[in-house]
Amino acid sequence: MTYLELLAERGIDGAHPGGFALTRALLRREMIDANTTVLDVGCGTGQTSSYIAKKFKCRVVAVDNNPKMLEKAQQRFQKDSLKIGLVRADAMRLPFWPNSFDLVLAESVTIFTNISRTLREYSRVLKPGGILIDIEMTAEMPLTAEELKDVKSVYGIKQVPTQDEWTDMLKAAGFSSIQILKGRINPLELLFGNRLGKEFSAHFNLMKQYYRKLGYRVYRCK
Ligand SMILES: C[S@@+](CC[C@H](N)C(=O)[O-])C[C@H]1O[C@@H](n2cnc3c(N)ncnc32)[C@H](O)[C@@H]1O
Repeated sequence: MTYLELLAERGIDGAHPGGFALTRALLRREMIDANTTVLDVGCGTGQTSSYIAKKFKCRVVAVDNNPKMLEKAQQRFQKDSLKIGLVRADAMRLPFWPNSFDLVLAESVTIFTNISRTLREYSRVLKPGGILIDIEMTAEMPLTAEELKDVKSVYGIKQVPTQDEWTDMLKAAGFSSIQILKGRINPLELLFGNRLGKEFSAHFNLMKQYYRKLGYRVYRCK
């Protein structure tokens, strides 16, 4: 099973660096009200979408391309009696008109796709002045081919851009006012071991091995 299939199989919530605590902290800083329309791309089990719909009473659309994740998200929305639009779609080909959303959120999603293509999709579906918040793994320094091979073997991703590379791709996709929050993988989490169980040991071992090289960033842009 791939890393993403494992996450889906186990229904792991908050499967992004910084976790759900970071999500809540970031959303507190945004001007979201009942008139805001939000797109949660790669919504996973729907934890963030559900939180936004409950807290801000606004329109939320959640997208994922993994049927198991969608099933888990659907169960959550039904249990919470939430009217969240749930769509099976590829982040690289979003089935929405241009200028549809005020806020696009992607929490550890873009890196699993063709990054430039997906960023252009976020830009296309955002309204003018709309905001993208994207939390993504970021290399603290360029990885060697050998290192990239290790990362690829665990996550199936083709590249781990540095902060400058992410910034260039965001600009090329039409984003400006790029604000960046730097995050490092929490060493305590690694020290206290693999809370997700042994199926995730490849992920934890990689995080330990590349602790100094792999970090993450929150990219907030217009
Ligand atoms: C690491 S998980 C993060 C899930 C969720 N955002 C969270 O933070 O808990 C990545 C998610 O992106 C979804 N995903 C990966 N590639 C995708 C694509 N091309 N289109 C849509 N969703 C995708 C996966 O199915 C998975 O749910």
